[in-house]
Amino acid sequence: MKGIVLAGGTGSRLHPITKGISKQLVPLYDKPMVYYPISVLMLAQIRDILLITTLEDQHDFKKLLGDGSQYGINIEYVVQPSPDGLAQAFILGEEFIKDDSVAMVLGDNIFYGSNFINILKEAKSNAENKKASVFGYEVKDPQRFGIMELDENNNVISVEEKPEQPKSDYAITGLYFYDNSVVEKAKSLKPSKRNELEITDLNRIYLEENKLKACLLDSGFTWFDTGTPDSLLDASNMIRTIQKNRGSIISCLEQIAFKNGWLTIDELLDRAEALRKNEYGQYLFKKAEKAKTKKLEK
Ligand code: TTP
Repeated sequence: MKGIVLAGGTGSRLHPITKGISKQLVPLYDKPMVYYPISVLMLAQIRDILLITTLEDQHDFKKLLGDGSQYGINIEYVVQPSPDGLAQAFILGEEFIKDDSVAMVLGDNIFYGSNFINILKEAKSNAENKKASVFGYEVKDPQRFGIMELDENNNVISVEEKPEQPKSDYAITGLYFYDNSVVEKAKSLKPSKRNELEITDLNRIYLEENKLKACLLDSGFTWFDTGTPDSLLDASNMIRTIQKNRGSIISCLEQIAFKNGWLTIDELLDRAEALRKNEYGQYLFKKAEKAKTKKLEK
């Protein structure tokens, strides 16, 4: 399976912050925002990742992430010339996707919670069975989101973009898993009234084919989209609190790569060495030393 991080857009709700830098490179507490969506794909065991950015921001992303090898992954880059909608990602990504299935995560979406890996596995297996999966999260202001209505077996029975009279409180979050037909389906879409290729229209095609599944993120789960100054600060504070309480780092890409077997202990130590002056680097040292001791004990 392939993965896409969609990290273009204008970030206008965060101006003036995002006048000089991509929204997805703004820090969320101790790391750039884009680390969080990349970590989601890595948790789903996806190693080949396409990063879609604006033309002017691509250079900055490359400076930060390179070809991905420092995290044991392969990152390719494509430009979205203008923000013409989320579904355009699959047209821009056609050559990268080839004949694979694909997961897409929005560059400003943060997911954190227990059982996430199992939920991701379920979505992956849906895609292998030619079905699409969207991830639902109960919100108090459903008028602001794409909303899905579910039957008693959690099958999706309707999807609506920012409805005035929502049929449920389940927002569709910025993470989507599709089979390979998503490319042709995206190409068949017509631009909406706001002149975008809408992901809701894409999901509706799967719905009409009876192939749209809902994976639900429960109340213990945290989901943020970080498009406004308040949500940016809330997310940063939440990440700081969790990390301090648990003594762990959320979305630590090197750690996930190591756990996935994509980096060796020595490679992890190398990454730690390069960051030794900060807590992130010290954390990597701790993880590598612990793994070394464990190995010696065996
Ligand atoms: P939005 O938050 O809808 O748009 P934006 O990031 O441009 O911000 P604003 O509304 O403040 O102007 O986008 C959600 C995510 O999807 C975000 O990570 C940017 C990305 N995106 C694209 O990369 N291309 C697009 O065409 C659109 C619509 C969004």
